[in-house]
Amino acid sequence: MSKPSTTTEGMKRGGYYDDHSEYQRATAASAASFIPESVAAVPLPSDGQMFVIADYGSSTGRNSVAAVRGAVERVRGRRADQTIAVIHNDLPTNDWNALFANVTSAADSYVHAAGPPVLSMASAVSFFEPAAPSASVHLGLSFSAAHWLRTQPDLVLPGGFYFSEAIGDARAALAAQATDDWTAFLIARAADLQPSGRLLVQMVGTDPTTIPAGSGITARKLMLAMSEVAGELVADGLLDAARVKRYVLPVYARTPAEARAPFEGQDATLRDLFELIECRTDPVANPYLQQWRTDRDSAAYGRAYSAFVRAFTESNLREHLFARGRDGAEADAVLDDYFARLARRFAADPERDRFEDWTLTVVLARR
Ligand SMILES: C[S@@+](CC[C@H](N)C(=O)[O-])C[C@H]1O[C@@H](n2cnc3c(N)ncnc32)[C@H](O)[C@@H]1O
Repeated sequence: MSKPSTTTEGMKRGGYYDDHSEYQRATAASAASFIPESVAAVPLPSDGQMFVIADYGSSTGRNSVAAVRGAVERVRGRRADQTIAVIHNDLPTNDWNALFANVTSAADSYVHAAGPPVLSMASAVSFFEPAAPSASVHLGLSFSAAHWLRTQPDLVLPGGFYFSEAIGDARAALAAQATDDWTAFLIARAADLQPSGRLLVQMVGTDPTTIPAGSGITARKLMLAMSEVAGELVADGLLDAARVKRYVLPVYARTPAEARAPFEGQDATLRDLFELIECRTDPVANPYLQQWRTDRDSAAYGRAYSAFVRAFTESNLREHLFARGRDGAEADAVLDDYFARLARRFAADPERDRFEDWTLTVVLARR
């Protein structure tokens, strides 16, 4: 199989992401309040057809099976014997064995919902393309995934690893890339969804109302810490300075205004396809920091926070920052060193580089 041109091969495998994604689990749990209204608004299928739920960017499903279960139970609350299919979408390189293990054995999985067995399916394609049979999906869900850009940005970004540190043309180019990708994601979902189907997307966001300006960007403090620790590796001769300047983590935290833009104004590309029901940011509390504020175990906090970051960044960092010119074992060693340094830095001052989150929630109705 030829290697897909994507910005990640998926989350860290072998159970690592499941063990170190409490934050994403909390984000998916925060969707619970949006699901009842979304399910209630979708017409149930007629003629014995299945109700189809899609989970876009599912990874191993560990964090989404409970939200999907909430949706399944709401559907069954309307029609107890309604048959249901769940399509889990992610990249072909995702850990699909882990996905089906979680679907079948996690205690909070939708397969344990009362009623007829739920059909679980996989869609191994980029979510920038249609990812389900045309007009088949009644309810689309996506948690902590739609902020990933489609292609690796090709920019010099001397101030740090993240779009928030870009200025001038570089910032405009990243914003334009994020707009194009959001539009492509939504056009693909319009192809998947039934008329009157609903789509609930949660992703990292930016709250532009926080003071001082720029302080409401999800993960900004973390990304500054990550670029500074990469600078330490450069100083120690372990990483090429030019590569660090060219590296951008391909994630974009949109503001509500950026998320709404394709639906508003004269050139609104998506207004005919969707009605915008909800678009807002809400903070999601940091489980690692909450734990540290309770137990004051700084070393454990540093390890947990570093592992959380490694679980979702390693694939991209390996490919675009650490692996060039190195064999696999050398790349592993420098990754181990990098995340150990990050863990020590987080432990030394737990509040300074804390992960702050403003989750962006968008709910849409397919026209
Ligand atoms: C942080 S994980 C979130 C996983 C899960 N939804 C959760 O809440 O834990 C982001 C997921 O998005 C997937 N992803 C990134 N870009 C993608 C794309 N273009 N198409 C499909 N999935 C993608 C990654 O492979 C990864 O599994």
